[in-house]
Amino acid sequence: MADSYFPPTPPHDADSVDHQLHNDMSAPNIALNGAAPPPNGTTGTKDAPGRMSLKLSHLPSRQIIKPIYPRSPSAVDPNNPPWPAYRGYHEYSFAYATMGQRLPTILGKGIEDVVVTLNQEYDEERVVDLVQCIERMDALMGELQAQAKLRPIIDDGEADVALWNKLIAKYFHGKTFMNAPWLFAEAYKYRRLQECFSISKFWKSYDVFFRQKCDTFSRSNEAVFELSMRFAEPFKLKDGLSPDQKLEAERLMFKELTQICLWGNSTDLSLLINMTEDQIRSLQSTGGANLAATEKNILGNHMQKLWETALTLRSNTGGRVDFVLDNAGFELYCDCVYADFLLQSGLAKEIRFHGKRYPWFVSDVTKKDWTWLLNTMVYGQLFPKASDEEKESLRRLGLRWKQYEKEGKWIYEQHPFWCTGFTFWELHNEAPDLFLHLSRSDLVIFKGDLNHRKLTYDCAAPPSTDFEIAIGSMASAAGAPRICSMRTIKSDVVVGLGPEGDELAERLDKEEPGWKISGKYAVVLLSEGRPGEKVVFM
Ligand code: F6P
Ligand code: MG
Repeated sequence: MADSYFPPTPPHDADSVDHQLHNDMSAPNIALNGAAPPPNGTTGTKDAPGRMSLKLSHLPSRQIIKPIYPRSPSAVDPNNPPWPAYRGYHEYSFAYATMGQRLPTILGKGIEDVVVTLNQEYDEERVVDLVQCIERMDALMGELQAQAKLRPIIDDGEADVALWNKLIAKYFHGKTFMNAPWLFAEAYKYRRLQECFSISKFWKSYDVFFRQKCDTFSRSNEAVFELSMRFAEPFKLKDGLSPDQKLEAERLMFKELTQICLWGNSTDLSLLINMTEDQIRSLQSTGGANLAATEKNILGNHMQKLWETALTLRSNTGGRVDFVLDNAGFELYCDCVYADFLLQSGLAKEIRFHGKRYPWFVSDVTKKDWTWLLNTMVYGQLFPKASDEEKESLRRLGLRWKQYEKEGKWIYEQHPFWCTGFTFWELHNEAPDLFLHLSRSDLVIFKGDLNHRKLTYDCAAPPSTDFEIAIGSMASAAGAPRICSMRTIKSDVVVGLGPEGDELAERLDKEEPGWKISGKYAVVLLSEGRPGEKVVFM
């Protein structure tokens, strides 16, 4: 995808972006004389609604009115983020390639997977039921390609139905896959895919991506064993080190593991589909020298502050750390290696992992993926070519992690809010129980690109915008926890690059088209939040 599509940084005064927005919100899709609208909008954006053309010769001439960003908090809503939203018809954004090409491809692969299952099924009732799932997927494909309007979600008993339908009714009534904000339209597509199965009789929990998720882990064998051979045994600092030397050794290890956890995000399945083994290997390099070289690609880097935060947790006898997980397979494995180190080094005493209730954005972790990983490490036979030592190292690591679960040191959770179309700016209002729960954590680590998009409202904020400003109430509400976003950059929104960030982004636009979707660059950003303050809901 990175070869064929290169979105630049949108203009920072966001003027041209906003004009497109105003068109899409206010211009009816008709021409005045009743003629059909032009096939492409006159603004240079394909699929944008057509414009009315009036001849107004006696009125004063048009003024240039620049909208002011960020919008004031009371003017912000899911259809009007603080800065202009990315929408599917914005040709300059990854939204355009995703809505037009990537999603249909991903859905097509999903259909192929179900067909494989169908061909292996023998029971007539189950076969007929599965055929109906495929028919619903076909219908969804048709709607996606026809840029249909977004309809309410059918009540399939999931806890998020009311949240989805409230969002659609209040903000996206009459909106299409192309002119709704990209984040919402894309999330909606995955919810609709879930619905294809959730209203069936026998296939409610079918995951069309499960086989591929397992695959990403087995295809990552080199990096998997590189880590298991180092961490199978509980980690120990060398004997005879002075307290300062010990601390420095731990700091270096923390930094290296933070990066392993971070770069584990660069090989998510939604972009991996056409990658070769060599490309995967180079993205997953876990060796120290390579990590040092790639640190310069962390464009917003708060790792030192993160280390200091972790030390504070330890001085308070270890804290609670939450991971809002992203992808299954290799990335989850890296997250667990990191979490294991946090526990063993006393920086944390409890880790909570937040996953999805159903398949989401292709490769996101579900409970099934979580359980699969731990069990395959202990009992699986995924790596027939591995040496006995390698297999044993993986087994030991898996056993230790299972033990953490039994002892309640690692806890897996799946709140329904994570699978909605809401951004995290709305978490405080729409999922107060979850906000309260997270406010009790000492550090919440959000993994990956989608979580970052949701934290930042997925809009065209200038790259120099402070992370704390970009995440709204997740930083500013009373009781907001400390938050760290670890994300390899795979879509348009980029913030937290510091005062020179706008120039840096412009330079990269010129020199390295595609830098925002390649996964080569990353951010590790920290928000202090307002921990310890009493959470208040209006
Ligand atoms: O479809 C685009 C996207 O949502 C991007 O955010 C990213 O390319 C990918 O899908 C998901 O990435 P991640 O798994 O890191 O959230
Ligand atoms: Mg993901």
